[in-house]
Amino acid sequence: MSPVAYALELENVSRSYGSLKAVDDVSFAVDTGARHAVIGPNGAGKSTLFSVLAGTLRATAGRILLHGRDVTDEGEAGRCRLGLARTFQHSSVFLTASVLDNVTMAAQQAAGVSLRPFPLTRRYRAVTEAAFAQVQAVGLADRFAASAGSLSHGERRQLEVAMVLASRPDVVLFDEPTAGMSPAETHRFAELVAGLPPEITVLVIEHDLDVVFSLATAVTVLHLGRVLASGPPAVVQADPAVQSAYLGAASGDALFLTPGGTS
Ligand SMILES: Nc1ncnc2c1ncn2[C@@H]1O[C@H](COP(=O)(O)OP(=O)(O)OP(=O)(O)O)[C@@H](O)[C@H]1O
Ligand SMILES: [Mg+2]
Repeated sequence: MSPVAYALELENVSRSYGSLKAVDDVSFAVDTGARHAVIGPNGAGKSTLFSVLAGTLRATAGRILLHGRDVTDEGEAGRCRLGLARTFQHSSVFLTASVLDNVTMAAQQAAGVSLRPFPLTRRYRAVTEAAFAQVQAVGLADRFAASAGSLSHGERRQLEVAMVLASRPDVVLFDEPTAGMSPAETHRFAELVAGLPPEITVLVIEHDLDVVFSLATAVTVLHLGRVLASGPPAVVQADPAVQSAYLGAASGDALFLTPGGTS
């Protein structure tokens, strides 16, 4: 069987909250191995779209394919088993547990808990080692024993990145991973994503356009729940609708560059 070219396909996906169409008839495809950025102003529907992709929220219309398989009716756990993982815009770590324990728990959860005793020992060691490697990769090695609650905001975002990568996803959704990170931490995150195995597909919601255009192989712009433009970064950047909405006019920058929104 030939490999499926698309990691994710969205066909006319919508999600409403009451009468509000937060995600409105969204269609685009994400190439396997892409670093695909989703951008748009506060309230554009980016986080809602990620929740719909992850199965946290059901689509109210449309179809979602993961590696060519229809997962529209699959829940979050089912999609997770199929290799999809996500971070949340707002923190989801255990504050009283250590950095390493948080990452180990994320890895264990992904590895499954119904293991027999003997494999458990070997498996557990492998999981802990992989967890520590992830902690190192995000730059938290010297904080591995610290409780997550004692981390700075930027460090906590780094921990979340380690947690999601420890689950060994092949499609990963990052919701504003660099929000609250220092420039150095943001740079490290961009390098970490650039250094991920090429077969891992990354979708990232990101407000920092420098990160977007240094990292992304494709960009989708959402506006009022709809796709304003989608395609290679240079094409999206030059798109007249995008230009007038965000990138061109100085006043447009204010509309777009509002990290750490209120949703
Ligand atoms: N649980 C909810 N109930 C009702 N409305 C919601 C809910 N979550 C989000 N919304 C609304 O849906 C729209 C899209 O919100 P969403 O959080 O998906 O946007 P976003 O693009 O992620 O914004 P931000 O950049 O601020 O994170 C907004 O108008 C928001 O107010
Ligand atoms: Mg959001």
